Amino acid sequence: MASKEAFPLGVYAQGQTRWLGKRIARETLWNAAKNKLRGKRVLDVGCGYGHYIQDFLNLGAAEVYGIDYLDNMIEQGNEKVCFECLSTHDMKFDKEFDVAMCIFVIMWSKNYEELLTSVSNVHKALKPNGVLFCYVPNCVAELKSWSEEDGVKYGYRRLFTDGLDDGDKMNVHFYDLKGKPTNWEMTFFRQETYERCFEEAGFRNVRVVDPVIRDEWRSEFGAEYVDKMLNPTRDLLFVAEKL
Ligand SMILES: C[S@@+](CC[C@H](N)C(=O)[O-])C[C@H]1O[C@@H](n2cnc3c(N)ncnc32)[C@H](O)[C@@H]1O
Repeated sequence: MASKEAFPLGVYAQGQTRWLGKRIARETLWNAAKNKLRGKRVLDVGCGYGHYIQDFLNLGAAEVYGIDYLDNMIEQGNEKVCFECLSTHDMKFDKEFDVAMCIFVIMWSKNYEELLTSVSNVHKALKPNGVLFCYVPNCVAELKSWSEEDGVKYGYRRLFTDGLDDGDKMNVHFYDLKGKPTNWEMTFFRQETYERCFEEAGFRNVRVVDPVIRDEWRSEFGAEYVDKMLNPTRDLLFVAEKL
């Protein structure tokens, strides 16, 4: 059964204004997807407020279908954009998609079974030769937690504890513009576990894309912050194909 807790999207959106990870994620996704969206039907899984939908249209998507288990997430009015209130746990469509985007969504799965159900349903929603782009936080304990001060500065921080393993809970704090944290719990899965899950769901050619960084971000944010985002990389973009 899907767990439908209301994700604090408002605070998340405020944190994102200071979060270089968002810029890295957007640039990396844009770079990886730029030749794959023209004329395509795109499913935006867990679209939230639809932050990336305009990007998909700018890259030539013919249609974007956003789903989220919270209702009324995106404004409609653009004939190329549709929204449906659905959970990844029980979504079914009467059409197939060329591309699925799943951006910072599946780490809210409570355990491996939920993760596999969501990824399998995304696989079913795709046409043969369809492509999945899936962003998740890189859950390696080597990353260590940022200090509270850095969290306030950057908009969020994950709280790592020693000895985390697959399925363990991990907290993330999102900070609003006044520096007040809101806690959210997500599940720790290793990169190999995500890869195994994509394969088990039927995806092939599963790979992780190198993050894209713009030189000007080093002067804007400081080299130390950029290095903190990349060594090791905070987030992982998987690309996988339905053959
Ligand atoms: C971190 S937000 C990301 C939103 C958007 N993809 C972005 O990157 O801006 C996660 C979103 O996924 C939605 N979500 C989480 N689990 C879901 C599920 N099982 N089915 C549908 N939506 C889900 C939440 O309601 C939330 O809007």
